[in-house]
Amino acid sequence: MNIAIDGPAGAGKSTIARAAARKLGYIYVDTGALYRAVACECLSRGIDIKDTAAVEAALPGIRPSLAFADGEQHVLVNGRDVSGEIRTPEISMAASAVSAIPAVRRFLLDTQRDIAANNDVIMDGRDIGTVILPNAQVKIFLTASPEERARRRCKELEEKGTPQPFEEVLRDIKKRDHDDMTRKEAPLKQAPDAVLADTTDLDLEGAIALVTGIIEDKT
Ligand code: DC
Repeated sequence: MNIAIDGPAGAGKSTIARAAARKLGYIYVDTGALYRAVACECLSRGIDIKDTAAVEAALPGIRPSLAFADGEQHVLVNGRDVSGEIRTPEISMAASAVSAIPAVRRFLLDTQRDIAANNDVIMDGRDIGTVILPNAQVKIFLTASPEERARRRCKELEEKGTPQPFEEVLRDIKKRDHDDMTRKEAPLKQAPDAVLADTTDLDLEGAIALVTGIIEDKT
């Protein structure tokens, strides 16, 4: 069984998908972690991520993979666990930039499809329902207003001890939305057969119940 959850940054995809997966007995796969891992490795090698040719040339030496332990996903690059270090605002922007490079998307395609072929998954990303798993049994497009997403992200950053001003977070979210939706290759968009789930006015429990309900209805 394959469930695709797509949507913009900060819509709560990972928290909601992880909770729904636990409740319904699926493996939760966060595909953004793969783009973050590639971006992280490029930055640590001193590669300018705007230099498409340089990023492409580095790809054969980068081996990203996902591992699952106790229902938690770990992302590795060349065997090194980078799950913690990929969660910074700098890597968020860098991941968005590398994800616009067609060669990077092709590079990560099989990793994602292989996991879905071998497991019951709830997979979240931007192009899961449109490109990676066009035959997913359930597709959900999860969204919320940019302001609400920025409020949630601010709260998360504050809890992590790395607060950032609301205006900065909102600006980054709007820029990522724009970049993710307007890129040529696999832009973020709702698949025609996806169910729209807007969580702007829902708390976390409400959003989890909404998504779990959609999945249960369809399966
Ligand atoms: O979901 P996230 O914020 O961790 O994703 C980081 C970036 O990776 C995001 O800005 C766009 C890109 N991405 C993508 O293009 N396709 C996916 N399936 C997942 C993420």
